[in-house]
Amino acid sequence: MTAEKQAELRVAGEGYPLKALEGTMGDLALDIRDLRAQSGRVAYDPGMANVASCRSAITFVDGEKGILLHRGYALEDLIENCNFTEVAYLLIHGALPPEEKRKKFSALLNLHSMLHEDMRSFFGNYPEGAHPMAVLSAMVVSLSSFYPELRHNGVKEEVDITVTRLLSKLRTIAAFSYKKSIGEPYIYPSHKYSYCENFLNMMFRSPVSRYKAEPEDVALMNKLLILHADHEQNASTTAMRMVGSTGANLYACISAGICALWGPLHGGANQAVVEMLEGIIEEGLTPEQVLARAKNKQDPFRLMGFGHRIYKTYDPRAKIAKRLCTELLQRRPINDKLFDVALELEERALADEYFRERNLYPNVDYYTGLIYRALGFPTEMYPVLFALGRLPGWIAHWLEMRQDPDQKLMRPRQIYVGPERREFAPVETRE
Ligand code: CMC
Repeated sequence: MTAEKQAELRVAGEGYPLKALEGTMGDLALDIRDLRAQSGRVAYDPGMANVASCRSAITFVDGEKGILLHRGYALEDLIENCNFTEVAYLLIHGALPPEEKRKKFSALLNLHSMLHEDMRSFFGNYPEGAHPMAVLSAMVVSLSSFYPELRHNGVKEEVDITVTRLLSKLRTIAAFSYKKSIGEPYIYPSHKYSYCENFLNMMFRSPVSRYKAEPEDVALMNKLLILHADHEQNASTTAMRMVGSTGANLYACISAGICALWGPLHGGANQAVVEMLEGIIEEGLTPEQVLARAKNKQDPFRLMGFGHRIYKTYDPRAKIAKRLCTELLQRRPINDKLFDVALELEERALADEYFRERNLYPNVDYYTGLIYRALGFPTEMYPVLFALGRLPGWIAHWLEMRQDPDQKLMRPRQIYVGPERREFAPVETRE
């Protein structure tokens, strides 16, 4: 072990050596698993910004250089050369599929795309205006009551079929929840379409329309889903892993991941960005007024779609999303004022001292909502599309966790700051 990797913690004059860990790309860590047993202390880090919760071989992110690799492949290469199901296969199985396996995987995804017919009635019972993320997470956990529950130590075949079911059915659930929200009949999946074409067809066809997805839109949908396919230990993956660490079934874990993703600081940000831009136009705010609000610490307003826990430079996904958005709006000229406002706001923010000092750049959610909007998706569906893309990542992490000998029940500690022990107060003495 080299000198700079060795570490010792000194507490009250006592020294405790800390084992060093190193990743394949040079990530350095200190193993503090024995910290409390040795020193009587625990580590305090509420946002877990300094904690590696596991070792993982799925995704590598360099937040300083803006690099994102899946199983060693650059995101940019995967976006240009693969469709979404190939990337899902890569994340889940660790290698890109040869032709035979690629075909088999696609055929399997088609085979399992239907939902149990009894599940249809669930959609009907949600109130009008129900957020599709609520429906999505509830439906995913409901799958565990319709399809045999995967045992904690389930054999490979059992695991494979559950994974395939989930990947295949999530897009059907997503499309059904949209159809329910607009009061249109559900469109069933069809074997004649590819993964993304099937999804677009279920979303936008109706008994009275002759919708046929444009090949460019299918290609774009593939790219958008790949853009979201995994992002190592983000909040939803960590939520999913935490639920998984209790031994809960895969459906329950994914449902938890969906709930965590919903928040506006995470996957809900794509919806929040578009709502923010709409608000700016409605109120007639100038970029200066918007940035002033974002910088004002007394104002809870933040520039949505800006900033990232890991990226201290331009998020590589945001770069791609911006290009895809520009290309789409050229291909399908829509006079979208929101796009112009987004461009101007980005330019002003990147030149602003506050944003520069704090390394705040557009993240993946800044432009994706505008793409979904131009494709015709309603605002509330944006986080659902994020979830659809993130699913193979969640699954890959769940599978990895099951094989990890270091994996344990995730159960953090706390620093108690409440009252010390006090005498019980009978009701007549309470004030
Ligand atoms: N607008 C204004 N100020 C910001 C913003 C923003 N969007 N983001 C961070 N800051 C400020 C923050 O106030 C703080 O300032 P100070 O040092 O003066 O207190 C500083 O920058 C550091 O911020 P932080 O909150 O400590 O950073 P974090 O790593 O905890 O937060 C974040 C990361 C993504 C939650 C945050 O940047 C944010 O709220 N962004 C807006 C929501 C958003 O776009 N989320 C999508 C994230 S990317 C996709 C995904 O994960 O799903």
